[in-house]
Amino acid sequence: MKPTTELVDWAIEQRRYLHQHPELSHKEHETKAYVKQQLEQMGIDTYSLTGKDVIGVIKGQHEGKVIGVRSDMDALPIKEETGLPFSSKNVNVMHACGHDGHMAILLGIAKILSEKKEDIHGTILLVFQHAEEELPGGATELVAANLLDGVDAIFGYHLWQPIPSGIIGVREGPTMAGADRFSITIKGKGGHGSMPQQTIDPTLIISTIITSLQSIVSRSLTPSDEAVVSIGELHSGSNYNIIPDTAMASGTVRYFNTETSKEIRRRMESIVDGICQAHGASYELEYTHGDPPLFNDAKLTKFMEAQAQDVFGIENVQRIDGIMGSEDFAYYSTEIPSSYIFIGIGSEASPYGHHHPRFDIDEDMISIGIELFTKSLVDYLKEANA
Ligand code: NI
Repeated sequence: MKPTTELVDWAIEQRRYLHQHPELSHKEHETKAYVKQQLEQMGIDTYSLTGKDVIGVIKGQHEGKVIGVRSDMDALPIKEETGLPFSSKNVNVMHACGHDGHMAILLGIAKILSEKKEDIHGTILLVFQHAEEELPGGATELVAANLLDGVDAIFGYHLWQPIPSGIIGVREGPTMAGADRFSITIKGKGGHGSMPQQTIDPTLIISTIITSLQSIVSRSLTPSDEAVVSIGELHSGSNYNIIPDTAMASGTVRYFNTETSKEIRRRMESIVDGICQAHGASYELEYTHGDPPLFNDAKLTKFMEAQAQDVFGIENVQRIDGIMGSEDFAYYSTEIPSSYIFIGIGSEASPYGHHHPRFDIDEDMISIGIELFTKSLVDYLKEANA
């Protein structure tokens, strides 16, 4: 089902309109209304489970299973610097991750499938999800609102800059990392820099902790177990000769296995506690578990890989490494068989990565996404009900 030039042009127009009107997570009011209106104009029934999402329902002419396909809708608090004629009209808000393209793809899929009901053996839910970029995000809310009840499988995709344009990236098993965050505050005792013996120096303590945290991945985890512990924030003191009372650091933990996350947390607690005790300081450690790892079902992903090879040729489909970024589609993947794939958009024309003020997508890949998923969804239902 190669989309017609007319349909592709229409989808690109949708992307540009949505790009001009970006909205932040949990505030996608206009976006939601626009998508709903587009779906209803196609004769597609819609509903919303949280008041922030839109779900379109395409019921095929034949009985069968229910499957879902998801696009995210939110933008980021970034001031756009692309100089595109359809740049963001909303100050300091930008579609800098490609979710505008994701919506355009799903609207394109909707438009084709709404006219192909005779080919559909079951029901397809078009899930326009809010708040992918924030915690707690839209996927958690939709799972809690029973989106997945009675749903056999769910598919998702990301236009992905690290992969070259025209290439589809697939992976089975743990595909995107789980992401936790932590912050450590050391409570020491301040004083004059010339009289350290009268102080409990939180700067020295936090420095020792930061160095020791780097031993978790290298010394405590199995070498084949991939994980990251990174400190992104560090504050201590305000003047060259004053030892401050407190110091703080915060950071992120990434992993592909929830047991690994528990082990990292356990080791972090003991490192912080041990070092603080040794120095006579007290501390607060906040550790928050965020998105779990995104797990791609093997059978479903092999199916998607075969579909992509069928449409675009074996040479244009690649098995990729796990990605240390996180994605709240992961919450679906812990509930039902899921497959999340990557549509390459990397090129010299758009060298900027996701979340960069000059990030742009290769619009030619919108038609690739539409073609791949219209075929895959129809074929999946046909095979599932055969
Ligand atoms: Ni994204």
